Amino acid sequence: MSHAVDPERRAALYDEESRQFAERRPASRRLHERAVAHLPGGVPMSWMVKWAGPYPVYVQSAQGAHFTCVDGIDHVDLCLGDTGAMCGHSPAPTVAAVREQAARGITSMLPTPDAALAAEELTRRFGVPQWQFTLSATDSNRHVIRYARHVTGRPKVLVVDYCYHGTVDETFATLDPQGRVTARRGNLGPPVPLDLTTVVVPFNDVEALERALAREDVACALLEPAMTNIGIVLPVPGYHEALRDLTRRHGTLLVIDETHTLCAGPGGCTAAWGLQPDVVVVGKTIGGGIPTGAFGFTEELAGRIARSIPEEDIDVGGIGGTLAGNALSMAAVRATLTEVLTDEAFARMEGLAVRWTEGVQQVIDTSGAPWHVTRLGCRAEYAFSPGEPLTGAEAAEADDFALQQYLHLQALNRGVLLTPFHNMALMCPATTTADVDAHTAAFAAAADELISAGAE
Ligand SMILES: Cc1ncc(COP(=O)(O)O)c(C=O)c1O
Repeated sequence: MSHAVDPERRAALYDEESRQFAERRPASRRLHERAVAHLPGGVPMSWMVKWAGPYPVYVQSAQGAHFTCVDGIDHVDLCLGDTGAMCGHSPAPTVAAVREQAARGITSMLPTPDAALAAEELTRRFGVPQWQFTLSATDSNRHVIRYARHVTGRPKVLVVDYCYHGTVDETFATLDPQGRVTARRGNLGPPVPLDLTTVVVPFNDVEALERALAREDVACALLEPAMTNIGIVLPVPGYHEALRDLTRRHGTLLVIDETHTLCAGPGGCTAAWGLQPDVVVVGKTIGGGIPTGAFGFTEELAGRIARSIPEEDIDVGGIGGTLAGNALSMAAVRATLTEVLTDEAFARMEGLAVRWTEGVQQVIDTSGAPWHVTRLGCRAEYAFSPGEPLTGAEAAEADDFALQQYLHLQALNRGVLLTPFHNMALMCPATTTADVDAHTAAFAAAADELISAGAE
């Protein structure tokens, strides 16, 4: 038995779901057969092959919390582009702003009025007052790491074990069984051994943090305030206070990556929990799906950076990008933040995530599966361990790729899309209680097939 499930039964159920998938999706199959000629795996980005099923679902259109595939099947989207569409698909205010801006010039490498409005809104939400824009959260993290090294004169970045911060070389590190820093499984072609650039500590471990920072070679600590990329791992009481205290004491900049944890509220965990980072990173949904990332500094840090870089050299320091801060992205951010992802929208989204979590919990209780469900704001996840993990390693231990693939395909065949990375569900402003309940019903049927029927 693996995570309370018989692997043979799970494999047989998966095969049956695959058969049903193929039967109902001939148009996706035809498109896939054509796509593989020039797209490896038939997809424009390699990790799209990770979706459950014999081939991906090709999307015809998406609106709000739903999308329709090319076979005409309506789906509740709980993946929402893995947070890229947490504002819902094509929200009207963002579409209007983008349409209007696209007709007036898309990029000129000059600021537009929207840039200042977007920065004002990010300041109101996160408290840090000086903002810069990029095309992705990955770019924001890369730039912040570079600035941190530059101003502190220190070589290393501290991250937590099993973190994810985008395709940022320094962050693809993990701890081996002996506690040494090494490249994470799956890390392709690291440029240098990871222990040269990175210090790794388990999440929620204040003593490890203290030991790591005491060496005073860490330029910045880059953390999600709660881990979201290996399931959800919440901080224990006092962890953030210790993190802030130790980073200050040892001259390390504290970077809080809110790219996913924006789900906790309008100002992410930073506002919800009263955190005081030196730098905040955001991205994904803030532009409604139009490529944008951002990072915000304290006044003090922004001043240190400004004083240390001559204007003449500002374009060759490794920060920036021709399209960063473009007019289209800025219009999208301004509209999405001020008109879509509003304080009221967050309150509704959180209520729906509570409903989703309660539904999943009830199924777990009824089936007796040794699983649990966790929530952070409008994001929730179930995982295959009885208790909530404290570290990324504990969360990774609960992973079961084959079981996850079955549950995702089973839900997909019932018109519900979960993220292909672990078992995450996200609510957007357009999600309804019926959407939530559709997942609960699918999950109950899956638990019944996997556990109750398997035990007969
Ligand atoms: C916490 C966090 N930071 C940064 C990123 C990178 O975002 P993007 O792929 O949009 O650059 C991700 C992506 O999942 C993330 O989860």
